[in-house]
Amino acid sequence: MAKVVRTNTGAKEQAAQPVLSEAEVARRVEALLGRMSLEEKIGQLTQLGGASFMPKPNLEDVIRKGGAGSILWLNDTKQFNALQKIAVEESPSKTPLLFALDVIHGYRTIFPVPLAMASSWDPSVAERAQAVAAKEARAAGLHWTFGPMLDIARDARWGRIVEGAGEDPCLGAAMAAAQVRGFQGPFLGAPDHIVACAKHFAGYGAADGGRDYDPVYLPEGRLRNVYFPPFEAAVKAGVGTFMSAYMDLNDVPASGNRFLLSDVLRGEWGFKGFVVSDAFAVGNLVTQGFARDGGDAAFRALSAGVNMDMASNTYPQHLAGLVEDGTLKLADIDAAVRPILAIKVRMGLFEQPYIDESKLAQVVALPENQKEARLAAQRSMVLLKNEGRLLPLAKSLRKVAVIGPLADSKEATEGSWMVFGHTPAAVTVVEGIRAKLPGAKVEYAPGPAIRRDITWLFGDVMSEAKPVQTPEQAEAAFQTAVATARNADVIVMVLGENADMAGEAASRASFDMPGGQEELLKAVVALGKPVVLVLLNGRPLSIGWATENVPAILEAWEPGSEGGHAVADILFGDVNPGGKLPVTFPRKASHAPLYYARNLTHSPESSPMYRSRYWDGPTTPLYPFGFGLSYTTFSITNLKVAAPQVKVGSSVAVTADVTNTGLVVGDEVVQLYIHQKAGSDSRPMRELKGFERLTLKPGETKTVTFPLGPAELGYWSTNAGKWVQEAETFDIWVGADSLATLHADLEVIL
Ligand code: BGC
Repeated sequence: MAKVVRTNTGAKEQAAQPVLSEAEVARRVEALLGRMSLEEKIGQLTQLGGASFMPKPNLEDVIRKGGAGSILWLNDTKQFNALQKIAVEESPSKTPLLFALDVIHGYRTIFPVPLAMASSWDPSVAERAQAVAAKEARAAGLHWTFGPMLDIARDARWGRIVEGAGEDPCLGAAMAAAQVRGFQGPFLGAPDHIVACAKHFAGYGAADGGRDYDPVYLPEGRLRNVYFPPFEAAVKAGVGTFMSAYMDLNDVPASGNRFLLSDVLRGEWGFKGFVVSDAFAVGNLVTQGFARDGGDAAFRALSAGVNMDMASNTYPQHLAGLVEDGTLKLADIDAAVRPILAIKVRMGLFEQPYIDESKLAQVVALPENQKEARLAAQRSMVLLKNEGRLLPLAKSLRKVAVIGPLADSKEATEGSWMVFGHTPAAVTVVEGIRAKLPGAKVEYAPGPAIRRDITWLFGDVMSEAKPVQTPEQAEAAFQTAVATARNADVIVMVLGENADMAGEAASRASFDMPGGQEELLKAVVALGKPVVLVLLNGRPLSIGWATENVPAILEAWEPGSEGGHAVADILFGDVNPGGKLPVTFPRKASHAPLYYARNLTHSPESSPMYRSRYWDGPTTPLYPFGFGLSYTTFSITNLKVAAPQVKVGSSVAVTADVTNTGLVVGDEVVQLYIHQKAGSDSRPMRELKGFERLTLKPGETKTVTFPLGPAELGYWSTNAGKWVQEAETFDIWVGADSLATLHADLEVIL
């Protein structure tokens, strides 16, 4: 875990070597363990919630007795120091606490949501973002974030799709490793960095029906080929901790799942850090109908491989009894405690348990952090349509109307998974456009407000209350918006979802734009003026009508605190968009799950039979995975596979030329897809195996090279029950999205 990872983050000049050797860490851990009573050891395995909405044991008293190893849901620097003082001065073993929080896409400077960052197809964006997030969070006194979220999501009804990198394991793995490097820096314990947590292990994104928390059924091949790669990439990048998921995986809750937590994570991947359960998940093994009672839950979670119990208090209530009656051995407890202490040692918490309370003000929201956030937002946006080159708009425009309930919403701009206690402070789209056009008349009207009817616990804590409008008020807001639009030369509609409409406990059975947004769009388009649609949302939406009737559509996702500036930069041509979709856009929610890497069937898409899949409409996506336009054009040509044949176990280079054939500088994301034509198992019709985002001047050509070797050409075979690489023929495509047509064959031989 102490291996040195070179990064291109802001970590630049800092020491690239951990201060302590593995042996020194181990020695100190054993010395600490030797001083701890059983109760204190169990305390290290206990994470307590510090939020005001929780029924709280007296935190101070518990800490004083050594009953807590970590605190979450607290975001208060002064209180961190006060609690830490009790831990290091008054608890019997004087072991410092780890303060943990969900810092998902920024602490004070808020970056685009992870789904958006994945749309950049540029891992360095995610790496730099998480390095800034880490620096701010550490200055606030935090040591540990519950991120990155690495769940592959192929069903956009599942609200947590917004927290991850989308549907693809190759893109997901690249984003996973980058985020771990960003959060942790060159080694665990690096200054200005925090410990990352790969979550939620594993399969959570495949919840039945897209309903959050529902059971998941994934065959081992699908788990290993699709759902595991981002997690394994995180381990390879040195991630310090893992979080076990909530739901049942093949009838065994992930937080009591030995196959996941012991056999695969530790046994196969050699993970040496610790596993924390998801919130209340240990206690909920009883609720889930798996464990008989609290004692059984504690036993099954610990023996499956969960080191730390997040917030359910099941470990402190039951572990000591289980050791006393011989169900567990003291050695089991020691083994669970060791990696937790090791992380505290590596983080330097014994030497420096406190945080300088003045540091936060010096570090948060610095201009350079804002610059990174703006850049990340620019690179994350995806141009879905630009008919007649309506975009970019001229800066000489005099009258612009900005319409829609999200156009001036700081919360919708910053997006889902707000940090506890954070007040959204984003530059909204209205503000961004006003700043871009100081001399123009930029009028804004929200139209009818949108809100979700059914709220949830954290939503109430983290988002602002949404207005409830009477039908008359909504109608008046609608008419005002149309009247405002009528006065303008160009109308920018900002529509989509509020921040609380995607995320945890935020699944949906429809991808329609909620509320009366589509009616408003139709009424504005009917005015016959140029209309640009900017989407702020955390999942693909059903934008079929807009696709046919609105000339320009920009997918801005939830772009973070500089989001409004970034939207204006793109709309007015200071930045050329180059993002690509990390998820398929289905036409409607009833088509979910819909993803590009499906297996072929006996009636492929080219056959006439295919058309009858659904008799009430096409089954094809509205926008394919990997898709995104630019203000310039590109051609990708000259696909070459270095040799027509490659031996099992060897690598071959695939190259192609990409040329900017338009008039302005722009970015293209060149993508490599493969398909194994026959073998032990049926393989997906296409699988992404490489990508590169390049910037090209007009007329410029660059050659991209992708290696194809055993890692790309092998897979876990259901029929063989093991990893295989087979001597078979492969299709190779290189292009600008998952429908790429430039093709070559490759034969793998023995
Ligand atoms: C979520 C986790 C999160 C945890 C702590 C849970 O409800 O599933 O993703 O890290 O709460 O806030």
